Amino acid sequence: MDPAAAHAIPLSVDPPLRELLRYSRAHRGQRWLAVTMSLLNKICDIAPELLIGAAVDIVVKSDGQSFMGRVLGTDDRFTQLSVLVAVTVVIWLAESATEYAAVITWRNLAQTIEHEARMDTYRHVQTLEMAYFEDKTSGGLMAVLNDDINQLERFLDLGPHKLIITAANVVFVGITFVVVSPLLAVLAFLPIPVIIAGSLWYQTRLEPRYAAVRASAGVIGDTLTNGLGGIATIKAFNAEDREVQRVEVDSEAYRQANRDAIRYSTAFNPLIRMAVLAGFTMTLIVGGRAALHGDLEIGVFSMLVYMTQRLLWPLTALGETLDLYQRAMASCRRIFGLLRAEPRILPGAVDLPTPVRGDIRFRDVSFAYDSVTTGADDSTTGGGLVLRGVSLDIPAGETHAIVGPTGSGKSTVVKLLLRLYEPTSGEITLDGTSISNLTFASLRGATGLVAQDVFLFHGTVRENLTYGRPDATEAELRRAAELAEAAEFIDALPDGYDTLVGERGQKLSGGQRQRLTIARAILRDPAVLILDEATSAVDNETEAAIQRSLAKVSAGRTTVVIAHRLSTVRHAHRIHVLEAGRVVEAGTHEELVDLGGLYAALWRVQTGEAALT
Ligand SMILES: Nc1ncnc2c1ncn2[C@@H]1O[C@H](COP(=O)(O)OP(=O)(O)O)[C@@H](O)[C@H]1O
Ligand SMILES: [Mg+2]
Repeated sequence: MDPAAAHAIPLSVDPPLRELLRYSRAHRGQRWLAVTMSLLNKICDIAPELLIGAAVDIVVKSDGQSFMGRVLGTDDRFTQLSVLVAVTVVIWLAESATEYAAVITWRNLAQTIEHEARMDTYRHVQTLEMAYFEDKTSGGLMAVLNDDINQLERFLDLGPHKLIITAANVVFVGITFVVVSPLLAVLAFLPIPVIIAGSLWYQTRLEPRYAAVRASAGVIGDTLTNGLGGIATIKAFNAEDREVQRVEVDSEAYRQANRDAIRYSTAFNPLIRMAVLAGFTMTLIVGGRAALHGDLEIGVFSMLVYMTQRLLWPLTALGETLDLYQRAMASCRRIFGLLRAEPRILPGAVDLPTPVRGDIRFRDVSFAYDSVTTGADDSTTGGGLVLRGVSLDIPAGETHAIVGPTGSGKSTVVKLLLRLYEPTSGEITLDGTSISNLTFASLRGATGLVAQDVFLFHGTVRENLTYGRPDATEAELRRAAELAEAAEFIDALPDGYDTLVGERGQKLSGGQRQRLTIARAILRDPAVLILDEATSAVDNETEAAIQRSLAKVSAGRTTVVIAHRLSTVRHAHRIHVLEAGRVVEAGTHEELVDLGGLYAALWRVQTGEAALT
């Protein structure tokens, strides 16, 4: 399989129009109103043609036997015409009014559906587990959440209105023809099967082409987000030209995909025009002959000539509407495909009694990342297992450390504890309750994570600090900043707590970002505080500061510290040593040094290093 295809968002397989109808069911009332207005509008639109026939009828029949004459029961032709004019004016006014009503209802409905689709997909995406996002690309998701949703409106705005009035047109005009002259009806309708067959042919050709267009739009989205996200790296490696070329390749593919679609979509209109021309000339010739021979009344003939135009020309606009339809449906498939993605990690129903004590237990936990994405169960073979039978016992209020070589699975332990992933086997409990039974609010509300890769949102220092507790008071905020030893540098920032940190916090130094994330975690006052290599990427001064604040905030709170530098965890109640996904040693610093195993070896290396520097 194409490696890029594996990361594509799966398409929905149901017919997209049916999905869309089902989706917009909540607005049935508005939908019916819009349909009714479109139909009324069409009726008002066709009526003047009938009136033209009646007008000609009045002029050519001097004996009072015209249609209007019989209806009104008067011989006076001027009266007949005046009434006709009055009726026409009313109908034209009604046409404008119904068109206004139809267009405004359809367009508002389109905006409502688009808004709801945008919100539903975004809300749904938030419920999906981490593994989903690792598998997909944010650019591809952006393309669906933004481009595809916007595509919907291009069709929904007026597409349904146009399709309805075109179909109603065929029906209404058809009835008139059949009533007035069945022969001409057959002739005028001859092009219609050709047009329908043409449309179907066109649909089947166009659909895969627009699917390809949308897919390549997703690829461009990917490349763009990737490029913009890594702008510093691009510059550092002097790779600007290469990045531009990369986008050029994708953009060119998008252009080709569109060209391919355009070729078909443009061929449709000329085809319809030919068929229309044939139908029109037939009625003109055959109807004209009949009128000349007196088989067809002149009023009826003139009406039918107008009617044929009325019947057939609107069909030429069908191509454009169907084109928008196909584009929108290609996007619909992607949107509903995303909405169909089932979240694999669902919250439980149990809320822990507060205050949460923070008693953590891992019982024989094994985990493999690839089983998450491929669904393969390799727990029996042990292949791909990142954690193998990990058992941890972290009593409430204690500080425990997890150490071990890089890649041994330390961060994975934390991700499992937060239930960002689900263990392949084994169980994790918090205060005696399996975390899979807990609500996310209970579980994640009890845990505060300071992660290895710091993430700050674009916004002010204050917004970032209060992210986990929007209701925090100013005093709490400042105390948390104080504890994290961040208060000093925040006060020195140009706007203090209201300074904008830039996207991902890029306007701050690494150490400052790290202190902010610690303050952010402290402010939540979680029962369980987790620090995943919070000090590995910071300067010595920041590390010392973090050590000091940690000593203060970990008192009486369950704290899990993952550390690279062993000196930072030597005072932990217990240290768990992880190697290749297994807990190989556990104990206090002194016990482990005496044991003379992996920990003792690492310790010797690090203190040796320390002595050298
Ligand atoms: N999202 C992921 N998908 C697949 N493999 C992963 C993922 N995250 C980590 N790994 C792998 O799992 C192993 C353990 O990673 P991790 O727990 O981050 O180690 P560390 O002990 O350095 O924190 C590593 O071999 C890593 O390559
Ligand atoms: Mg790690």
